[in-house]
Amino acid sequence: MEKVKVKICEGTTCFVMGGQAVKSMISTLTEKYKDKIEISSVRCFGTCNKSDSFSKAPYVMVDDEQISSADLEKVIAVIERKLNNE
Ligand code: FES
Repeated sequence: MEKVKVKICEGTTCFVMGGQAVKSMISTLTEKYKDKIEISSVRCFGTCNKSDSFSKAPYVMVDDEQISSADLEKVIAVIERKLNNE
């Protein structure tokens, strides 16, 4: 089974908007999902530069789905949906 890829933005905008806390929370998921997810970081998705997107940081990508105003609940919901092929 291919792992669900979780990419956390570590760019300045996302950092300022709470990305570091989200990263810390997401890192706790490795225990729950063990070999089902792969967590990595990116410098910036570029989304924060688009008009009206600044306030929706922090951003997290789960496979091809971008989550705005990311928090742990939103990320888990998308991971679960991906794992269940919904
Ligand atoms: S800093 Fe996160 S999308 Fe740009």
